[in-house]
Amino acid sequence: MARVVITGAAGGTGQSLVAHFRAAGYEVVAVDVRPVPQAVAPAVQLDLCQAAGVNDVVAGADAVVHFGSPPAISHLAATEAFHQVGVAGFNVFQAARNAGVRRLVWASSIEVYGDLTAHPSLPVTESSPLAPPSLYGACKVMLENLAVDYYRWYGICSAGFRLTRIIYDNPQGRAKLRGLVAQTGAGADCLWSYVDARDVASACQAWLESEHPGAEVFNVAAPDVHHPVSTAQLLAGSAYRAAWVAAGDAHETPFCTHRIRARLGWRPRYHWRQLLAEEEAPSLSGHSSTSGPTGA
Ligand SMILES: NC(=O)c1ccc[n+]([C@@H]2O[C@H](COP(=O)([O-])OP(=O)(O)OC[C@H]3O[C@@H](n4cnc5c(N)ncnc54)[C@H](O)[C@@H]3O)[C@@H](O)[C@H]2O)c1
Repeated sequence: MARVVITGAAGGTGQSLVAHFRAAGYEVVAVDVRPVPQAVAPAVQLDLCQAAGVNDVVAGADAVVHFGSPPAISHLAATEAFHQVGVAGFNVFQAARNAGVRRLVWASSIEVYGDLTAHPSLPVTESSPLAPPSLYGACKVMLENLAVDYYRWYGICSAGFRLTRIIYDNPQGRAKLRGLVAQTGAGADCLWSYVDARDVASACQAWLESEHPGAEVFNVAAPDVHHPVSTAQLLAGSAYRAAWVAAGDAHETPFCTHRIRARLGWRPRYHWRQLLAEEEAPSLSGHSSTSGPTGA
């Protein structure tokens, strides 16, 4: 059985990651700085800013899934934010190197592209220019660059997922989605794109089980916008500089995910209408969905 270390296991995404990998037959080492809910236990309580502890927990692992950092940093002083996102991420890469781990997947963010409303052209692909507007995005870009060198130096094959707004698999996550859907145009900061946390988990598994070499980055989102009106209508009614008409589905998101579909064969299963229908269903946990426009 493959052993995978999952950081951020107590988080909105991390809880789905742990459930998904356990169900897929992995031996999961769940890690978080805070106590995990009952459904996630057992877990190692560890601050990823402590390098020695990260080395200990990654030793003996076959793979690492790193989601253990805050999705927004506005509540943190700059130095603390740099540690939580940048240093913690570095410690994970270095621990993987020390332990001889060869496959790693981690949470980058759509925020690396900067203000999408000012983007000169659509769709936003992995080749679009990067312009992080904050230390949060700058740390993600820094880790994407570090990943390239850790592949070149040590052969660690990694995928940095440029995640759009994640919808947690719990009532708070679905309530947040409902709030977005209720207001036409809401969610413009992420090009009205979204992704269910369970689909993030399947994307992580797709990377770990692929044999793709290198340090890749992938946009990760559901294929459509989370509104009943077409993408062209949303763009026309917004402050976007760029116009765009989808070639196929009129509701296709301009946050392009062709690369991950083509290279990993990943297909998200959860559509926003279905998630709203699930709103009354039992939750995975009571964890709140907290990331807002700056929390992607
Ligand atoms: N939520 C989104 O919409 C979104 C969008 C893009 C990217 N991301 C990224 O996804 C990842 C997970 O985000 P989330 O939305 O699940 O956030 P979350 O806050 O729900 O979960 C993050 C978890 O990481 C843990 N953590 C933070 N710092 C840590 C440290 N130093 N050591 C150990 N554990 C630590 C927290 O305790 C928390 O349980 C983050 O890296 C975030 O940047 C999130």
